[in-house]
Amino acid sequence: MINYIDRMADSLVDVLKYSQTEVEWPEPADLKPNDGVKPEWFYPAIENAEYSEISSILQYTQQEALFDEIGELMLGIALVEMKHFASVRDAIVALGGKLPQPFDNKNIKLGTNASEALILAAQAEIETIKFYKSIKTYLIETTDSVNITRQLLTKLIADETLHLKMINDRLKNIIGDEKEYNDIIKNKLPQINLYFS
Ligand SMILES: [Fe+2]
Ligand SMILES: [Fe+2]
Repeated sequence: MINYIDRMADSLVDVLKYSQTEVEWPEPADLKPNDGVKPEWFYPAIENAEYSEISSILQYTQQEALFDEIGELMLGIALVEMKHFASVRDAIVALGGKLPQPFDNKNIKLGTNASEALILAAQAEIETIKFYKSIKTYLIETTDSVNITRQLLTKLIADETLHLKMINDRLKNIIGDEKEYNDIIKNKLPQINLYFS
């Protein structure tokens, strides 16, 4: 008899390597309106075309379908982005905000081969990290909601940093040639090393 629960548990453990498990999730439902955190700060994480959680879900799941050699990596990361989306959405609702409308996804960039797909994904992760770091600078009051939000952002940034590392490792591996890889970094991802310290 097939033990589906066991299979599911195995798959889940596999998926967990795409999330930084040392940094824990806070409970976004404990956030409160008018407690030092504005829901609008998070709206771009739902609706921005370059770095929102929705655009990364759409980008990575389509890249998974198109480029077999990076399929597992992209789907694994996309599953974590779905969890991110759910947490940001819960935070917006708990803070008394209104969920932005679904956006037009036809400009999502996928690339024409696995290397291009990885470069685009790395660029998206960098923009996402920058965005979440920018919200941290708005947190000046000392309230429960501010503390929860800081933890939420720390978790999101930790996961996106892990994604960036995994995407970069794969890119290096696929390119193979060191000079070619260094040229790509210089031209397309000049800031990448700032995120690995
Ligand atoms: Fe994310
Ligand atoms: Fe990510």
